[in-house]
Amino acid sequence: MTSAYDIALIPGDGIGPEVVREGLKVLDACESVFGFSTKREELPYGAEHYLKTGETMPDEEFDRLRDRNAVLLGAIGDPRVEVGLLEFAIIAGLRFKLDLYVNLRPIKLYDARFCPLKDKGPADVDMLICRENTEGAYSGIHGAVRRGTPFEVATQTMVFTRRGVERIIRYAFERAMNRPRKKVTLIDKANALRSQDIWTRTFAEVGAEYPDIKTDHAYIDAACMWMIKNPEWFDVAVTPNLFGDIITDLGAMVQGGMGIAASGNLHPGQTSMFEPIHGSAPKYKDQNKANPIATIMAVSMMLEYVGEVEAVLKDTTGHDLELTFCPHLLPVKRGILTALHVRTDHAPDALATALRTAYEGAPFVHVVEAPPRLGDVVFTNDCRISVHPAASGRAVVFSAIDNLVKGAAGQAIQNLNLAMGWEEDAGLPSGFGPDGVAG
Ligand code: IPM
Ligand code: MN
Repeated sequence: MTSAYDIALIPGDGIGPEVVREGLKVLDACESVFGFSTKREELPYGAEHYLKTGETMPDEEFDRLRDRNAVLLGAIGDPRVEVGLLEFAIIAGLRFKLDLYVNLRPIKLYDARFCPLKDKGPADVDMLICRENTEGAYSGIHGAVRRGTPFEVATQTMVFTRRGVERIIRYAFERAMNRPRKKVTLIDKANALRSQDIWTRTFAEVGAEYPDIKTDHAYIDAACMWMIKNPEWFDVAVTPNLFGDIITDLGAMVQGGMGIAASGNLHPGQTSMFEPIHGSAPKYKDQNKANPIATIMAVSMMLEYVGEVEAVLKDTTGHDLELTFCPHLLPVKRGILTALHVRTDHAPDALATALRTAYEGAPFVHVVEAPPRLGDVVFTNDCRISVHPAASGRAVVFSAIDNLVKGAAGQAIQNLNLAMGWEEDAGLPSGFGPDGVAG
């Protein structure tokens, strides 16, 4: 019997719809290759809907989501709407109302050439950040008096509950049990924010139940420093909401850019939400410049979550979706690359066909005409596909997207990097910044 999954789509604002569209092509390809299906409903929420109707996302909709398997979200935020209004109502709304207490953010480097750090490679950057996702500084308890006067007072309260802290710490330890290095680092700021002592104590108590797991601790400021200096020290890390928000943008750059970083907002056993970490980058909307890989990764996380593990974009050594690199792009820009890999058991031809259909007309992905054979590396004018035999006899098929090297296409890929913040010296927004759109 084939499984069917009920998925709600919230493409949202800015580049959200176009990256979701690409993600769904991969989902289509996975369905035809792995033999499951999805029932998808697209929900209209975001800036357009809000400007038209005054509605952010109604409570009944949150209720309806509870019966689905998962939600795939593109991006929320639009300069025409008050800063934070839609982000809080929709993104934080989903996290809070569906009680998605884990914000799981894998930071994994797929190729040393993506990494801005000197002498660091894939063996050094492989961490799983477990961001608490329902309380902390995001609890929504804030206020101001005498606003706009010299005597203005503004407050924002951080809230930590024993239950909230314990469940995310426990989740982190459970994840660490299935990882080779078996280590959990608590990242907090308990020296300055004394309320975070609840994290220190809870971490020690829960940790005592997991004698096989090594524990470590870093204050958030030092953690930022270590993540650059010695990223290899991190395996699983658990941290309050705000620190998790901040350190995963840092992590995204260490792994190669906002354009590839994905996240899962989870409540194990219940409807969970998957989204790229980047924002809506409204000025690049509808230009086909946005890198869809982060959303493709989010689709991968979603498939893993719903239990479609065969379709998870992993190679057979257990690595997550692997990004390939196009060496000849190296002189042009660092870290240029989007790639799509889909695993198939013994049907590379079928997969190639599925990919070709999925990516017909897509700007960044081309699939060669002849179905590749195992071990082939096929070059065409604008595309390369490598089909790698893998240890277990399964095949990892991946198409490196290096079709945009020449002429106008080369410019397009540069714009893509700028749009997604892959180019450090550009001084342009990476989904944040001058647009006032949070990422
Ligand atoms: C993220 C985003 C959100 C957050 C914003 C859009 C509210 O930055 O998912 O990391 O701060 O959590
Ligand atoms: Mn963020």
